[in-house]
Amino acid sequence: NLTSSVHSLLQQMTLEEKIAQFMQLATHFYEGSFSAGQITGPMEEMGIRKETVLNSGSVLGASGAREIRSIQDAHLKENRLGIPLVMMADIVHGFETIFPVPLGIGCSWNMELAEQSAQVAAKEAAVSGIHVTFAPMVDLVRDPRWGRVVESTGEDPYLNGQFARAFVRGFQGKDLKTDLHRVAACVKHFAAYGAAEGGRDYNTVNMSERELRENYLPAYKAALDEGCEMVMTSFNTVDGIPASGNATLMRHLLRDEWGFDGVIISDWGAVKELIPHGVAADEAEAAKKAIQAGVDIEMMTPCYANHLQELVESGVVAEELIDEGVIRILQLKKKLGLFENPYRGADEQQEKEVVLCAEHRAVARELAEKSCVMLKNEGALPLQKEQKVALIGPFAESGDILGAWSWHGSKEKAMKLADGLRMKLDSAQLLVGQGCDIQTGTEKQLEDALRIAEQADVLVLALGEASSMSGEACSRSDIRLPQVQLDLVKRLKELGKPMIAVLFNGRPLDLHGVIDQVDAVLEAWYPGTEGGAAVANLLFGDSNPSGRLTMSIPFSVGQVPVYYNHFNTGRPYYPEDTESHYVSKYLDIPNEPLLPFGFGLSYTTFSYSDATLSENTLTKEQPISLTVKVKNNGKLAGEEVVQVYIQDLVGEVVRPLKELKAFKRIHLEPGEKKVVSFTITEEQLRYHHANLDFTSDPGAFIAYVGPNSEEGIALPFELQ
Ligand code: IFM
Repeated sequence: NLTSSVHSLLQQMTLEEKIAQFMQLATHFYEGSFSAGQITGPMEEMGIRKETVLNSGSVLGASGAREIRSIQDAHLKENRLGIPLVMMADIVHGFETIFPVPLGIGCSWNMELAEQSAQVAAKEAAVSGIHVTFAPMVDLVRDPRWGRVVESTGEDPYLNGQFARAFVRGFQGKDLKTDLHRVAACVKHFAAYGAAEGGRDYNTVNMSERELRENYLPAYKAALDEGCEMVMTSFNTVDGIPASGNATLMRHLLRDEWGFDGVIISDWGAVKELIPHGVAADEAEAAKKAIQAGVDIEMMTPCYANHLQELVESGVVAEELIDEGVIRILQLKKKLGLFENPYRGADEQQEKEVVLCAEHRAVARELAEKSCVMLKNEGALPLQKEQKVALIGPFAESGDILGAWSWHGSKEKAMKLADGLRMKLDSAQLLVGQGCDIQTGTEKQLEDALRIAEQADVLVLALGEASSMSGEACSRSDIRLPQVQLDLVKRLKELGKPMIAVLFNGRPLDLHGVIDQVDAVLEAWYPGTEGGAAVANLLFGDSNPSGRLTMSIPFSVGQVPVYYNHFNTGRPYYPEDTESHYVSKYLDIPNEPLLPFGFGLSYTTFSYSDATLSENTLTKEQPISLTVKVKNNGKLAGEEVVQVYIQDLVGEVVRPLKELKAFKRIHLEPGEKKVVSFTITEEQLRYHHANLDFTSDPGAFIAYVGPNSEEGIALPFELQ
């Protein structure tokens, strides 16, 4: 039915109207937008005709029920066939209620809360008129120099896939047509954007197809298996061909192999960028390559709008290609129920009630608490209520704790760390100073900080990167904290008081100069709207830290990319062997990261015992189970993430030293023991062979169960 009504609409459309459906422009281009006065300037610059805008299919970045209704009204008044616009925007980790950045959410290892965060974001966005979000971003990341690692859940293909599914469930719900508080999801950036050479944004990606399939593709696939409606292309090349003009990726893989029949949208300007990439001579050729490769919607450049008609009329591009794309876009609009209700969830009254409501802030606080990772604690934490605390640093009173892609979030409404601590301490017990700005500082700031530090029992240092130092186009070659902050740490250290660093940043940092100077470190990432409250709860032990790293913290930048699931090499290095020279190592730094994937401390300790397999041999038909007893040895309740890794000892192609295959997050009361069980199946042992077949081989394996990717009880088994 859906298809037949779409087809009959298609019959009525002129070629020009069809092509205009492919055009996506920013809000100010549209009549009815509150900034519509700017329409002529940018349209003229881009060479876009008014008719194209009138017939265009979607809007980028509009929000607010009133404005969106106004844009839709103006559009429908002019649009000959009454085809509604679909409103798309980046609602990545919250709308106004901002959750931790995705890298932080990753560290929660908590799929229920991740899903809930996406559901809340969808609800706030939907009542504000948005229909589609450009999320989840599921690019696998191994290089913290790349600013966009902040948008990813980390370095592991399996875990990223789990999060991809959770986010899609949360955004989309079960039925977009009836559930007006959900939005369609658009997984991005297809493909392998996270592997930009040198960590420099937009840079070349070069990898084998096996590596692509084994590590980089699974999370996109997981999102699509969960029903994600759209895919966004990436800016990078993949095997010499820019992703936005890459038929192998879009036609062969996405469409033919994976059967994806939703809409593919280019990233901003990525169709026209085929020209500077050097695979298209001009806009017309860029349009031809992109449409033939499979891009349906062109975001923010006019190659389709200005050239497709001629390309079709001259027979260069088949009209069927246009029709296929239009059908997909119209189908999306049908699924969203826009033909019946072009405003969909947009509702000013609900907007007032729902957006940033207390209930949503409570979810944000809970997720922020679960996302922070305690990296070190030599007893300085938790803080005691009777201690006099000096909170010092550029993030003490800063609302810049929301991170990239929080365009609706308000720094003013974010709970700052100082405010969080004020909820715990009397004013006489809390002294606050800035110490320095993020990148610079004055002698006066330093002196003030030293003065209050002298009066305190314990120093809490709020340090980090400005949120503009990570995210898109924010790569860094030096991933230490800015020197002025390292100097501040050094000067405060001279006072000999217990020091705790709380870090607000968007990438794993080289922590030298901090972690070696202080007694405790809490990695807060950008914890979002409720950040200050969540961190204060953790610092005082009202909540027990339970985040675990999902990206290795490098020893230094010279080591990156560094990730846990690497190969052994033919000349592995064993630190205890001091004789061998010709082995794979650095002369000046260790091979291992400073802190590994999966790592995180708690105020209690957990012990693992009685790890066993139900059988030593498993077959395709007969999985085996792994059980382990985990005990909370301390006096506080806590949460542990029990992790299972598997190593395939001999493969047809080289296999990683370990791969995460399962995990469970458990809660243990003081002294409580729990038996945790997992199932190991043949499916988990499959990998891409030399001919890219995804199968398993009989032979020897080792399962490791433990608290992180470096520590674990080894359990050998065989696949028959
Ligand atoms: O969705 C984003 C993408 O991640 C980066 N470029 C712009 C897009 C739309 O805002």
